[in-house]
Amino acid sequence: MGNFNLSHRMVLPPLGRLRSYNNIPKPHAILYYSQRISNAGFLIAEATGVSVTARGYPNRPGIRTKEQVEAWKPIVKAVHEKRGIFFCQISYQPNGEAPISCTNKGVTPGLGGGDWPPPRSLRTDEIPQIVNDMRLAARNAIEAGFDGVEIHGANGYLIDQFMKDKVNDITDKYGGSLENRCCFALEIVEAVINEIGADKVGIRLSPYEHYMKAVDSNPEALGLYMANALNKFGIAYRHIIEPPRIKTVDEYELLQCLLPIRKAFKGTFIGAGGYNRENGNKAVAENYTDLVVFGRMFLANPDLPKRFEPNAGLKKHDRSTMYITALIAELSERYDFNPAQTAAANRTRRLAANVTTARPLYNLATFGFRSRR
Ligand SMILES: Cc1cc2nc3c(=O)[nH]c(=O)nc-3n(C[C@H](O)[C@H](O)[C@H](O)COP(=O)(O)O)c2cc1C
Repeated sequence: MGNFNLSHRMVLPPLGRLRSYNNIPKPHAILYYSQRISNAGFLIAEATGVSVTARGYPNRPGIRTKEQVEAWKPIVKAVHEKRGIFFCQISYQPNGEAPISCTNKGVTPGLGGGDWPPPRSLRTDEIPQIVNDMRLAARNAIEAGFDGVEIHGANGYLIDQFMKDKVNDITDKYGGSLENRCCFALEIVEAVINEIGADKVGIRLSPYEHYMKAVDSNPEALGLYMANALNKFGIAYRHIIEPPRIKTVDEYELLQCLLPIRKAFKGTFIGAGGYNRENGNKAVAENYTDLVVFGRMFLANPDLPKRFEPNAGLKKHDRSTMYITALIAELSERYDFNPAQTAAANRTRRLAANVTTARPLYNLATFGFRSRR
């Protein structure tokens, strides 16, 4: 992958666990990431906020302040000690009273079924600040020791919203035509590359995804336009989320609709979403992708590459422990247990429930997203 020699094609994707109390990465992440490295494997850290107005969900880690950068250092060091290649996913997920967007229109229902305040369309003169936040975050990620950054341009967050014609209703140079809608994303790519070098930059996109109603009427044209535009920069990789799969009896079929985009993009291609051992091998054998993401499987099976080799049994992921609140993370630190272990998490959740009924951990309004008008 670019300048990096990977020992296998399995990727740990960004998986936000919401355990970074007060947006500071915590020591428990050392164990979490170290468990999931196999010699020179590729790991991407969870979505990480680039500024105080870009935290999105509560208890996501950030990469803006000195304290956050210092807190990442031992985590990155632990990954490097086991020869992992580690990128940080830098993400602008708006939070606050009026989340910023490229539209004033919200969605119903909002994130998690909630009724959030409507977003506010960004003014043209505010864009350079966001681009600069992403640039500084990239610089900080390198300072923290990361090998590179992944720009989060997927899943209905700010950058993805700008690219999609069913969301973006801006009338200036950042809205309207496909070129204009992609301008924001490409300005960020360029600024980040100028700061840390193209070989250290990847981007995650999801043209076919419609999470939180971030839809485009021509996802293939969007994917192809971005592939050609990104070719000029020579970035380390392009990471793309598959459209929802057609579920057959027990397996997901590859839809093959990313093929034209894969062929157009000249660099390393990462496919994500619904892969297992069989269709992952097939996708690589058929040159549909270079690297394959395993998200939920890696959560439940930290030693996934070792299990895949002999086709050993897999544990199933437990949805109830995917996101763990600050209090649980805090308790896990204090009492030194791994909250991913279901039994411990259940015990602690019961403990936490007693406390949270009296004192909510966070105000849900701070989630911030495009929302109901
Ligand atoms: C608990 C959890 C947290 C996630 N957090 C992020 C994130 O921070 N950034 C992101 O781009 N995608 C995130 N995703 C999406 C995953 O990176 C991945 O695309 C998804 O799990 C699909 O892959 P899979 O079918 O192999 O699980 C998250 C998914 C899960 C299950």
